[in-house]
Amino acid sequence: MLRVEELSHSFLNGNETTAVLQQISFNVHKGEMIALLGSSGSGKSTLLNLMAGLMKPTEGQIYISDHNIVEMSENRLAEFRRKHIGFIFQAYELISHLTVRENVELPLVFQSIHPSIRKKKSLALLEQVGIPDKAELFPSQLSGGQQQRVSIARSLITEPSVIFADEPTGNLDTKTEDEIISILKHLNQTMKTTFIIVTHEREVAAQTEKIITLRDGFLVTEQEAAQDQLQAGGILIEN
Ligand SMILES: Nc1ncnc2c1ncn2[C@@H]1O[C@H](COP(=O)(O)OP(=O)(O)OP(=O)(O)O)[C@@H](O)[C@H]1O
Ligand SMILES: [Mg+2]
Repeated sequence: MLRVEELSHSFLNGNETTAVLQQISFNVHKGEMIALLGSSGSGKSTLLNLMAGLMKPTEGQIYISDHNIVEMSENRLAEFRRKHIGFIFQAYELISHLTVRENVELPLVFQSIHPSIRKKKSLALLEQVGIPDKAELFPSQLSGGQQQRVSIARSLITEPSVIFADEPTGNLDTKTEDEIISILKHLNQTMKTTFIIVTHEREVAAQTEKIITLRDGFLVTEQEAAQDQLQAGGILIEN
């Protein structure tokens, strides 16, 4: 469903290049829920933004449902993103002067879908994420966890093949974090949407089917990741 091949990315600062991702390759199958785990600065957001087509990599290829998004023109990619890709942000990114329902419907407005169909779909999704009673309120009238539910509903309304989430629970307390992760798991199971979730928390990652770990821009094996974890816990490994 998603294939990343030999992906590398560098940023240019002045005349100095910093390599942020190096030779990353992996596959994600349709309907999987994957965590992208790594400490701050390891390159998680960069990798997610590349996979979501928000920027172009220095090297390598990215295929979504067999379409190479690296080689697409900007226009074609914008259209592809609207149809096939959903995104959930840490800071929700809702539009304050639109109601909850209007925020959820927004991606469909750009697709000229009839208002009555938009309304039906958005209300059904708000029901799915557990806030059917908040449809006519404004984002500022909702708690952080509720706002993230709105943003999840919005990401699903176009029925994308894959949803990318960058630290979706980063601004929430542990209890609300658990609720949001449960919602994502439930949606993953019922709607068969593929989810790729960035987190730096092992407890969040542990709830997904598969974990991809980054360390300083490199993909690490499960064994190396386990060693990282032991060392982080203060246990020394003698070889
Ligand atoms: N636009 C940019 N220009 C230059 N360097 C950048 C840019 N964006 C990110 N970087 C650098 O790339 C590295 C990886 O950043 P990235 O945001 O992908 O990390 P992250 O794993 O998401 O971290 P965090 O957990 O703190 O969000 C960092 O060293 C960062 O300084
Ligand atoms: Mg990040």
